[in-house]
Amino acid sequence: MTTALRRPLIAGNWKMNLDLRAARNLLRALRENLSDVAAEVAVCPPFTLLAAAAEELKGAPIRVGAQDLFWEKTGAYTGEVSAEQLVDIGCSVVLIGHSERRRCFGETDDTVARKLKSALRAGLMPVVCVGETLEEREGQKTYRVLQTQLKGALSGLAPAEAGKIVVAYEPVWAIGTGKTATPTQAQDAHLFIRKTLATVLGSEASMAVRILYGGSVKPDNADALMAQPDIDGALVGGESLKPVSFLRIIHFQAPAEAG
Ligand code: 13P
Repeated sequence: MTTALRRPLIAGNWKMNLDLRAARNLLRALRENLSDVAAEVAVCPPFTLLAAAAEELKGAPIRVGAQDLFWEKTGAYTGEVSAEQLVDIGCSVVLIGHSERRRCFGETDDTVARKLKSALRAGLMPVVCVGETLEEREGQKTYRVLQTQLKGALSGLAPAEAGKIVVAYEPVWAIGTGKTATPTQAQDAHLFIRKTLATVLGSEASMAVRILYGGSVKPDNADALMAQPDIDGALVGGESLKPVSFLRIIHFQAPAEAG
């Protein structure tokens, strides 16, 4: 598991799911059953539910995050939402470059870098998502893809800002498929990500960055994933919509301290 340097972070990505009523019910169930949790917790509802989520979670130890943002502050950008607008309604987290946005909406490493800078400018905690497709993994390109995505996302970022970012490793082949990376596969990718971060940001800064695993995280695999030394949390999709499951993942069982 993560070191004392990095508090575990469990975040739920609701994607394009739930209406207002269902969202309120889920958030109340989470809020009422969160006991003495070691991890930092966040939920990322769709834009339409963010203000209600922020209101519902006022005073609760659960952060509200958006699933995307646009890099300009204001202006004629129909359909877009800025980092400043997110902060205004009570968001403190934002996902950036999720593979579904890369695949369905043409996001590139360049747009991810711009979005990352705007999130930091506004004081949001950005969660930058990276991950390879099945074809890339089978073609032995996983490391190359991760390196390109990370270096592209972080270009121009000052090491001093590095501690404020979170990286999520989400192998595309594990998202919504029920196929989870094994703890060893995930740890291997996380270690590679940390080494890449060290080359870009310096080794001290890289040790402070939390790296989350995402892709079919469930109550029955969360403990084993969280036991890995470079897995500092989880980005949970489908199971974050089910209060009992998400609460079990949030209250993951930390491995006994060695020695
Ligand atoms: P699932 O947990 O549904 O596989 O989704 C993972 C994900 O994409 C989280 O961002």
